[in-house]
Amino acid sequence: MLRCVPQVEKAIHFFRKEIDVRAVVIAEEGAQPTVAELPTPQPAAGEVLVRVQASSINGFDLSVAGGHVAGMMEHRYPLVLGKDFAGTVAAVGDGVTRFSVGDAVFGVVTKQFLGDGGFGEYVTVPEEIGIAALPGGVEVAAAGALGLAGTAALDALDAVTPQPGETVLVSGATGGVGAVAVQYAAASGARVIATARPGEESEFVRNLGAHEVVDHTGDVPAQIRAVSPGGVDVIVHLAGDGAVLAGLLTEKGRIASTIGFGPDQHPAATFVMANPTGTTLDRLAGDVAAGRLRVPVARAYPLAEVPAAFGDFAGGTVGKLGITVAS
Ligand SMILES: NC(=O)c1ccc[n+]([C@@H]2O[C@H](COP(=O)([O-])OP(=O)(O)OC[C@H]3O[C@@H](n4cnc5c(N)ncnc54)[C@H](OP(=O)(O)O)[C@@H]3O)[C@@H](O)[C@H]2O)c1
Repeated sequence: MLRCVPQVEKAIHFFRKEIDVRAVVIAEEGAQPTVAELPTPQPAAGEVLVRVQASSINGFDLSVAGGHVAGMMEHRYPLVLGKDFAGTVAAVGDGVTRFSVGDAVFGVVTKQFLGDGGFGEYVTVPEEIGIAALPGGVEVAAAGALGLAGTAALDALDAVTPQPGETVLVSGATGGVGAVAVQYAAASGARVIATARPGEESEFVRNLGAHEVVDHTGDVPAQIRAVSPGGVDVIVHLAGDGAVLAGLLTEKGRIASTIGFGPDQHPAATFVMANPTGTTLDRLAGDVAAGRLRVPVARAYPLAEVPAAFGDFAGGTVGKLGITVAS
């Protein structure tokens, strides 16, 4: 009897839409995240279907699971969680020109509604936003942890453009966004002050390029004045009290915040919403491929352990928590 090679069998099976795929979902409003089997999503016109191999936890995922985004965005149930993804293009919808089946890709699921996510074996994403080619030399686990955190860090730094010789405070440096922000800030030639608890966390940010470390469980303004008596030129605000930190700015200082501290709170503040354009994602992946940027993934969890990963994330982590979706 003639037999197809396994990949062809899998593809035929796939396009008959007979298989269900595993995903971490919120089944209905108020439900807890669980692993469920769903029909394979199909790409609409202009969309790419990605077979996901890796993703990661972001604070946004916990906000969605906790019901904190309800009312701000349409929720489509069963709602698949997860903003980040990395994997391979499995199919393309009508009109897609930038990607082909088999391409390695990564990015951030960016749609007008919540419902499609990276914590599942397949996800559809628009080719126009939130997806880029994954260059050789970038591990899929790193790519799965790069999209949202990297974009937020890069967009924040682009909003305040640190100059060589300036002093940059990264408040929240030990998280996923902070770990990327510290590296880019150091690469700009600025002197970087990072917040971190003493011990392992301080070592972590120093290894990423921080020149000074202040303990955010202590008196942050006093510690900053001790190492930088003239104040700081730039603040990347990812955690902590924005108003207190803004009081440390020099006359021409500026502050970029990912957590809602904007011009209404301080004239030098910019509230940054991460916008994962292809250009930004290309830049991030290119920097990782060239060895200029590290994506510190502290630990990776299988899909079934996403609820446990949420608990660990909420308890505080150093760097990113990855999700391994498939090999
Ligand atoms: N606007 C956007 O588009 C956007 C995009 C991505 C992320 N975000 C937000 O940006 C923030 C950072 O994201 P993330 O993924 O890096 O979060 P994360 O991984 O949870 O990191 C936050 C870090 O802040 C530290 N921290 C807590 N309290 C602090 C304080 N008072 N001062 C200084 N550091 C403190 C924590 O360290 P300890 O464990 O030591 O407490 C933790 O390492 C989150 O609130 C996230 O929701 C927004």
